[in-house]
Amino acid sequence: MNTLAGKHIVLGLSGGIAAFKSAELCRALVKAGVTVQVVMTEAAEQFMTAVTMQALSGRPVYTSQWDTREANNMAHINLSREADAIVVAPASADFMAKLLHGRADELLSLVCLARPIEQVPLIVAPAMNREMWANPATQRNVAQLKADGIHVLDVGQGDQACGETGDGRMLEAEEILEDLVAFFAPKTMASQHVLVTAGPTYEAIDPVRGITNLSSGKMGFAIARAARMAGAQVTLVAGPVHLPTPRGVQRMDVRSARQMLDAVQSQVDKASVLVATAAVADWRPDTQADQKIKKDGSGQTPSLKFVENPDILATVAQSARAQSGALFCVGFAAESHDLLAHATAKRLRKGVPLLVGNIGPATFGQDDNALLLVDDAGARELPHASKQALAEQLIADIARRLK
Ligand code: C5P
Repeated sequence: MNTLAGKHIVLGLSGGIAAFKSAELCRALVKAGVTVQVVMTEAAEQFMTAVTMQALSGRPVYTSQWDTREANNMAHINLSREADAIVVAPASADFMAKLLHGRADELLSLVCLARPIEQVPLIVAPAMNREMWANPATQRNVAQLKADGIHVLDVGQGDQACGETGDGRMLEAEEILEDLVAFFAPKTMASQHVLVTAGPTYEAIDPVRGITNLSSGKMGFAIARAARMAGAQVTLVAGPVHLPTPRGVQRMDVRSARQMLDAVQSQVDKASVLVATAAVADWRPDTQADQKIKKDGSGQTPSLKFVENPDILATVAQSARAQSGALFCVGFAAESHDLLAHATAKRLRKGVPLLVGNIGPATFGQDDNALLLVDDAGARELPHASKQALAEQLIADIARRLK
């Protein structure tokens, strides 16, 4: 989902060393199809030149309320009326204090104050030293800015330009971009808590060997991201995969099916939706050797015995909350053939209202897929598309069912 395409955003820079990240943010916004109008404070110009920002945005930069380029000489009115949103990044401690008091002694704070509050959201990305961020004055200001309806993004954590380490770094450009994409997405899942299982499980044979499968986790991670975009609180229980955690999603890493069940059960009482995309191992070795099983040169092979793993989805689907409709359960089926027949049968066997079928060998590890949504009324196909696009369609479908 590119919710930013066609938007017009005023990108405001106040004074801070993080201004160098705003160059990258500007470029990313333009690439996403945004027209970017840069406004810089005098302090920002100490860190970044207007020439750089003009080249990246493709538009002349505004730096002064006395700019005579505007026919009516009211840059602060014109700029704030044209915008779909104002994004101040970096927002320094001083600039946030100014916003709080409604002070407007230079162009950027004027634009923020003059914006029509109902139509033009103001989003700020704080950037400062950790002590400045932790200072009660700043924290008080952040709380009041939020209460005033200003969207204050998180800060990053880590090494700071001053040599100290802690909270207060400005988010990276791609993190701000992701938060902006989410900001503009329709909030069809607001007030929902979505629990997603994703990836394979790993069932140990001994400390160095185990049984797993080819699930990449991509579909589940895409669903977690789409649910967060739609305004849900999201918990992602992930088997062993190498994927970055979608922004704003709480992740719990597990290895085995039993650990996945424990993690799901610890979260499920809070959830209103469970989407089980994980490819859970059906069986695990009945015992786990404490030490590596050695080849002894005799040609003898070890004999493994298996026991069945708990069925996480079926267990949750039988719970009182799922049965009463307080928890909506969605299962997945990876099949190799006869998708409709297998998905229909699996839906009934798992006892879930919605089962999503896909052709397993064709989708494992890929970035795209095709889905078949099976419920008690029949089947609906979501044709071949990227996993992210399909995840968004699936979340939109689930949102309609929750109404
Ligand atoms: O039975 P099968 O593995 O084909 O069912 C697939 C669906 O059930 C998926 O939604 C999967 O996440 C879930 N499942 C589970 N626990 C298992 C096996 C499957 O939650 N032990």
